[in-house]
Amino acid sequence: QAVTRHQAENASISRGLVESNHAGYTGGGFVNYDNAAGSYVEFTVTAATAGPATLTLRYANGSTADRPLAITVNGTAAAGALPFAATGAWSTWATRTTPVTLAAGANRIRATATTAAGGPNLDRLDVETGAAQAGRPA
Ligand code: GCU
Repeated sequence: QAVTRHQAENASISRGLVESNHAGYTGGGFVNYDNAAGSYVEFTVTAATAGPATLTLRYANGSTADRPLAITVNGTAAAGALPFAATGAWSTWATRTTPVTLAAGANRIRATATTAAGGPNLDRLDVETGAAQAGRPA
C-alpha cells in the first residue's frame, strides 16, 4: 500500500483560517474552520489507479460537541456527516478514518462543515491506497 500526506494548511480553504496557536499540529499549522455550515477544506489527491482508499483526518475539537464534516470525492458524497467528537482540548489531536473510492489521476476531496459551529481544527489528511485498507486482506 501507499500513504500520501496532505497538510490542511496547504489545501484549498473556503471560510477558514490557517492558524498555529494550539500545540501539537504537524507541518506549518492547521485550519480553523469558520463557525459556519458550509465552510470547507479541499485537498487535491492524485491516485495512480482507480479504486478504494482510506482517508485519515487528524483533528482537534476543544468544544464539547461533535463537529461533523461531510466528505465528498469529486463532488460525490462519500460520508454524509462524519463525526469529529470532542477531544477535550484544542491542543489534543485525534484521527478519524473513512473509506472512499478514488478515480485515477487527480481527486478533489472536500471536507465540509455541516453545522453552524463549523468544523474541528483540521491538521492533515493521510490517504492510503492499495491492498491494506481496514477489513481487506493485505
Ligand atoms: C476557539 C479556538 C479555535 C477554534 C474555535 C472554534 O476559538 O481557539 O482554534 O477553531 O474555538 O470553536 O472553532
